[in-house]
Amino acid sequence: MPARLFLSSGDLVADRRFDFARDLQLKGDLVAAADLLLQATELAPTFASAWFTLGEIREQLGERAPAIAAFREAQVADPDDRHGASLRLMLLGAERLSAMPPAYVRALFDQYAPKFEAALIDDLDYRGPALLFKAVVAACNEVRKPAFFKRAIDLGCGTGLAASAFARGVDHFVGIDLSPRMIEKARSSGLYAQLQVSDMLEGLRDRPEASADLVLAADAMVYLADLAPVLREVKRVLVPGGMLAFTVETHDGEDVILGEGLRYAHGAAHVRASIGEVGLKLSRLEHSSARNEDNAPAPGLVALAVKS
Ligand SMILES: C[S@@+](CC[C@H](N)C(=O)[O-])C[C@H]1O[C@@H](n2cnc3c(N)ncnc32)[C@H](O)[C@@H]1O
Repeated sequence: MPARLFLSSGDLVADRRFDFARDLQLKGDLVAAADLLLQATELAPTFASAWFTLGEIREQLGERAPAIAAFREAQVADPDDRHGASLRLMLLGAERLSAMPPAYVRALFDQYAPKFEAALIDDLDYRGPALLFKAVVAACNEVRKPAFFKRAIDLGCGTGLAASAFARGVDHFVGIDLSPRMIEKARSSGLYAQLQVSDMLEGLRDRPEASADLVLAADAMVYLADLAPVLREVKRVLVPGGMLAFTVETHDGEDVILGEGLRYAHGAAHVRASIGEVGLKLSRLEHSSARNEDNAPAPGLVALAVKS
């Protein structure tokens, strides 16, 4: 996983207290760590990293209400919420399920970018792009069409692993990603004709109607609570007969939940309903895991939809 995000308070003494507190936290002395963090926030009341870490420690100590209070302070101190305090509040049941803060996703993947591929492929046995490729080839075979696409869009393209899996079958790849550092890596892969740093919904909105033959999202929809707005834009940019293939994580229920790993899990019923709601035709929905979590396959779905 990426290194922890640290936002300096601007006060040297408060920052030092934070460092000591982290040492104590790592050594397991949670009470002393919490005490030091409180001191740091007294010195620097808008010290988001200290409030956020205090929230985590209070949670570890089983102190739910004080943890909620600290996470709320972290949100106030950093309204962009780069630490993802709102996600911790959702997990604690203190906030309703809602969208992930874009600044959190950007900070997470900007930090992750240098070691992303090694971590995903070697440690998590990542297979999202291969699953999408298999699904797209199977769908093309069914309609006796070559798995060849002139224009493809890779949503949440990251470093370019999906473009690499599809490289031989696509003429012109567009990659869209929130994280500038991931986009830098994608650029150095040489696989994309165009790359755009933006939220995938905004990126799709910038594209003309009927301008893509294939849209991919490998392990990227797991950062979206509500799939429908993106799916609606995908339908608009696809040509008739164009395909959308994506992976999600899933769970036994019907709705969307936020998992402990801070990724959304979409029930199969929700995926089906979202695709139907925007007027795409679901052509396959298979249970398949794109990566491991705690050394076991994380439950997942591979969806393939077509614009009729
Ligand atoms: C787990 S990585 C997967 C990257 C790539 N698709 C792959 O298969 O290796 C998820 C990527 O989605 C991007 N992402 C998450 N939410 C996004 C959003 N709303 N708009 C654009 N990119 C997003 C992240 O920045 C990250 O690069």
